[in-house]
Amino acid sequence: PVDEEQQGLNKQIVINFSHVVAEDTPKGQAAIKFAEILEQKSNGRIHVVIYPNGMLYNDNNELKALQNNDVQMIAPTFSKMTKTIPTWEILDLPYLFHTDEEVEDVLNGRIGEQLLNQLNRVNIKGLAFWNNGFKQMSSEKKPLLKWEDFKNLKVRTMPSHVLQSQFELLGASSINTSFDELYTEVEKHKIDAQENTLSNIYSKGFYKVQNHITLTNHGLLGYAVLMNEDFWNSLPQDLQDDVVEAMQEATEWNFQIAKKLNQQDLEKLKKDPNIDLNTLSVAEQKKWEKKFKPLYSSYEKNINSTFLEEIRSEIHH
Ligand code: LMR
Repeated sequence: PVDEEQQGLNKQIVINFSHVVAEDTPKGQAAIKFAEILEQKSNGRIHVVIYPNGMLYNDNNELKALQNNDVQMIAPTFSKMTKTIPTWEILDLPYLFHTDEEVEDVLNGRIGEQLLNQLNRVNIKGLAFWNNGFKQMSSEKKPLLKWEDFKNLKVRTMPSHVLQSQFELLGASSINTSFDELYTEVEKHKIDAQENTLSNIYSKGFYKVQNHITLTNHGLLGYAVLMNEDFWNSLPQDLQDDVVEAMQEATEWNFQIAKKLNQQDLEKLKKDPNIDLNTLSVAEQKKWEKKFKPLYSSYEKNINSTFLEEIRSEIHH
């Protein structure tokens, strides 16, 4: 007897989607939403299996796994892609963005598309940018209220030249730790402070060891949603269309929930009596922006600054 169900399953295309954060985060939730929408649109012809929390691959090996087609999708922060695509360092510049609207205009607009197209040179299909939100500072021994507080601190950063330099400009040293090892390093007091979104600080429990949190909104944490290019090219046109449409809908949804999830985690942290929560003063933010100025000039020198002008005009249109 012919087993229709089994035949159907045999013809089913599977996308393995690996990422490094908890499910109840903007990226975790957007991945689930993308999987649901795509399975619906393709009438089950594509099945997406998500491997969250670095359970399959971590910061150090997920890109290679994607390029080898061991997984078909990953969504690293754009900061982690700067070694592969140096132009993307622009997105790490501190205080480049000030509102969620500016972020959405740039990442979901023509500039975002241009940035994603740069992935073609490394045989990766860039599907979209997703957002998490603005980064804050969490620290263990003392609150970080003014730039002088960073002197001689060990600050964890993602592997990005701009992120490492920004803390060096404040007198700190930067340590590159992969996200799945970060909690252990924090617990072993190997790191004094880190920059991250509230959803990452909350979902990974960093606040239990780094209980000083300063709301700085000094940088952006967002993601590039990547697909193995050969796998993309192997899809028939109608399924490629389904992937594009599902990604558009999941991206719109991601930008909506990112702000909400970070706000919810802020409320939870505000209620925690062990958390010392501060907000960077406007006057102090101005001093930080002044300290960070050399980052902009060196960026403008060593990488074509057309994107910087384009982003600034997009933001101030
Ligand atoms: C980090 O390493 O702090 C972030 O990339 C984690 C993530 O992917 O949001």
